[in-house]
Amino acid sequence: MKREKVQALNGEIHIPGDKSISHRSVMFGALAKGTTTVKNFLPGADCLSTIDCFRKMGVRIEQNGSDVVIHGNGIDSLSEPESLLDVGNSGTTIRLMLGILAGRPFYSAVAGDESIAKRPMKRVTEPLKQMGAKIDGRAGGEFTPLSVSGASLKGIDYVSPVASAQIKSAVLLAGLQAEGTTTVTEPHKSRDHTERMLSAFGVKLSEDQTSVSITGGQKLTAADIFVPGDISSAAFFLAVGAMVPNSKIILKNVGLNPTRTGVIDVLKNMGAKLEIKPSADSSAEPYGDLVIETSSLKAVEIGGDIIPRLIDEIPIIALLATQAEGTTVIKDAAELKVKETNRIDTVVSELRKLGAEIEPTADGMKVYGKQTLKGGATVSSHGDHRIGMMLGIASCITEEPIEIEQTDAIHVSYPTFFKHLNKLSNKS
Ligand code: S3P
Repeated sequence: MKREKVQALNGEIHIPGDKSISHRSVMFGALAKGTTTVKNFLPGADCLSTIDCFRKMGVRIEQNGSDVVIHGNGIDSLSEPESLLDVGNSGTTIRLMLGILAGRPFYSAVAGDESIAKRPMKRVTEPLKQMGAKIDGRAGGEFTPLSVSGASLKGIDYVSPVASAQIKSAVLLAGLQAEGTTTVTEPHKSRDHTERMLSAFGVKLSEDQTSVSITGGQKLTAADIFVPGDISSAAFFLAVGAMVPNSKIILKNVGLNPTRTGVIDVLKNMGAKLEIKPSADSSAEPYGDLVIETSSLKAVEIGGDIIPRLIDEIPIIALLATQAEGTTVIKDAAELKVKETNRIDTVVSELRKLGAEIEPTADGMKVYGKQTLKGGATVSSHGDHRIGMMLGIASCITEEPIEIEQTDAIHVSYPTFFKHLNKLSNKS
């Protein structure tokens, strides 16, 4: 796809539903007794993979765009899938679902696409095995395809080496089916959508800073869920609004869960003109409108506790840093290497092709600003939706047009991304 510089961006968009929350709404609705209705569900490829997997386990799910209805009949009603559970590109689907499958009394086989086949699974299969799960896979359960034979589980006290909501959630979902209490402790607090939504479904959890405990045997009751807009998707528009001259963009109903708002803190520290208007009727998940205007930006240092709060936004923050005065340093972010692509490598290689001065480090990157991005090159998403969108945003500020390959990957989390970008730049 060929894209070129834009002169200004103005107007208002509704950011599609949060991916993490959409996945959980389907999974927990499938485990609950009763009818769960979901509004503003994200109909992106990843969340559709979750729906497909739970349909294969016998759950009746109606999906019409961003409206979803799940006819749950309790966790015991899940049935043995007759074919492979295909998670597509979705790490959240596979890791959370493993926590559910570990305690179900049936056999299942799970796999996804080429990217999933390279992503580490032991971080989830190891603690699940400690609880008594029977999981097998390539390299001793590190890689897909994986097979799970349901087993009775025992609660554990698990100290995770990485701050990861996928690990935490998988262990908690196994804990829900285990004898006794299961506790997960993380080095830093990761996103807490699982905790918030399980509470909305009537499950009791106890939380203490970086630890969460759950007692097994609790039942979920259906709930009505409103999914706020995904701040990880909004981040691309916050960045483009700040970088492109003469711009002012309003983003409606964006999720403002504090475990996800690291990008807002970074933008403020960079000096961005960003206004936050919280909604009064936020229930389980806070949300509000964001207004971003063209800004003069300065470099920042990012590391430590904030990393899990913005891990998915680092590709777009790297681009933003090329337009900030000074050197931006991103550290403590080695997790980037095991995302949909190795995002240290893909961010550095693709931004360099556009003329950026950027260096990879062992756990992040250094970006030198402020620079003019020349463009005039062919770049690729490498099949990674967030790299594809970062490059789509980069094209708005490069001197010469750029050719972006594999833009289809963007369907994973933001099918209407270019439509929204065109609308704001009056190109529709
Ligand atoms: C997610 C957790 C994060 C994030 C991913 C979605 C989730 O992954 O990067 O996009 O929905 O729980 P990790 O748990 O691996 O950090």
